[in-house]
Amino acid sequence: MFITFEGPDGSGKTTQIHLLARWLREKNYQVVVTREPGGTEIGDQIRRVLHDPRNSAMDYRAEILLYSASRAQHVAQRIRPDMEAGKIVISDRYADSTLAYQGYGRGLDLEILRLITAFATGGLGPDLTLYLDITPEEGLQRRRLGGDEWNRLDAEALDFHHRVRMGYLALVDQEPERWAVIDAARPVEDVQAAIRKVAQARLTWDRA
Ligand code: TYD
Repeated sequence: MFITFEGPDGSGKTTQIHLLARWLREKNYQVVVTREPGGTEIGDQIRRVLHDPRNSAMDYRAEILLYSASRAQHVAQRIRPDMEAGKIVISDRYADSTLAYQGYGRGLDLEILRLITAFATGGLGPDLTLYLDITPEEGLQRRRLGGDEWNRLDAEALDFHHRVRMGYLALVDQEPERWAVIDAARPVEDVQAAIRKVAQARLTWDRA
């Protein structure tokens, strides 16, 4: 089973993923947690290039290909082998981030992005995607207060982040059976409870 988490910056994905992983492990599932960009040694090197605020001159095409290069390595070296070993793989971001940020956010051609993504992943898509929904204002505010790493995309204008959010909601509409939308503006425990409910239902269904 391959589960991905998506959501605007500051939606609390990382905390929620760790809580979910712990709960699944208590239920005796083998779980691996990973992230994009990154997830492998090569991917982490690519991540540093992508996140470096000095790289503000990065061309949009180069940006897409770097995220996609990290993803290709991630699928080949971690996601596929771990899935084949019977583990539940949980990734903090995956291909939907490219569609939301580079597609809807930057306004780049979605069909081309889908082709590049299919090439990078060999067609591997998640079984379940949890979208942690929060307004960009609240998300950015949380990141500032939380003192998190401030990356190149956090510095984008607020309307960029609004387009990203609208993009996610459009993606949910296109494939509602794969996605679950979680209201992430609530307290951590409430968000986690909603996530567990969805995951539980999916795992039960998967076993049947
Ligand atoms: P990260 O530090 O992992 O933050 P977050 O907690 O928001 O996940 O930063 C990842 C950033 O990269 C985030 O701003 C979204 C962006 N991104 C893309 O634009 N396209 C992609 O394909 C991926 C995977 C991430």
